[in-house]
Amino acid sequence: MERKALKLKDGRKGVIRSLTKADADLLYRCFRRFGKEARRNFAPHPFSRETAESLCDNLVQDHPSRRYLIIIGKPPNEKPLGYTFLYQLDQKVPSLAIGLTDDAVGQGLGRQVVEFLIDVAGKLGFAKVCLCVLMRNGRARRLYESMDFTYQRHRFWDDNGKGWSLRMAKNIGGRRGSYVWDDDAE
Ligand SMILES: CC(C)(COP(=O)(O)OP(=O)(O)OC[C@H]1O[C@@H](n2cnc3c(N)ncnc32)[C@H](O)[C@@H]1OP(=O)(O)O)[C@@H](O)C(=O)NCCC(=O)NCCS
Repeated sequence: MERKALKLKDGRKGVIRSLTKADADLLYRCFRRFGKEARRNFAPHPFSRETAESLCDNLVQDHPSRRYLIIIGKPPNEKPLGYTFLYQLDQKVPSLAIGLTDDAVGQGLGRQVVEFLIDVAGKLGFAKVCLCVLMRNGRARRLYESMDFTYQRHRFWDDNGKGWSLRMAKNIGGRRGSYVWDDDAE
């Protein structure tokens, strides 16, 4: 299992760890704890119990993705603070997605989680990672910009009435594809 300790700005300690088959309840609790900010800006799939169960049941078949929970507390008192994943791992450039619960926003977790995902992608040999972010999502954009993600000129679109989405990418120096990757030629 992949796992890393996390520090919240208020001094609490958390962890990011791989989602397991036994996590359907915890994942569904996380979905239920998502507030307005996460629901407006992070909606990769329905936040239903069926989805939580299906994601946990299909972890092996789900090989183009790696999924993780962000948690504080020890079992049986774990509290989910977020859910994140790397996907399109079967493509040249994988993508990442992250959603924190409202009470975890602004605690410095976003940066630590994105660093963790970049580390995983680098270990898998990828030279680059990308993500999609809504134009209106100032907090997320500020975070990604500060981590040297850059906007890709040809990748923005109207996202089903949610407003403009932007694609951002970052070179992470892995070895997979030792050629030079040209954003604009993609
Ligand atoms: C977006 C998200 C991952 C950011 O993680 P976080 O730990 O909450 O990040 P922080 O609150 O520490 O903020 C990151 C940066 O944005 C800045 N920021 C905060 N609110 C902001 C706002 N409304 N507008 C612009 N910048 C803002 C912070 O000052 C910080 O910058 P700094 O590191 O230079 O000080 C997290 O808030 C989240 O999951 N939100 C809900 C779902 C979501 O939006 N997911 C992303 C989809 S692409």
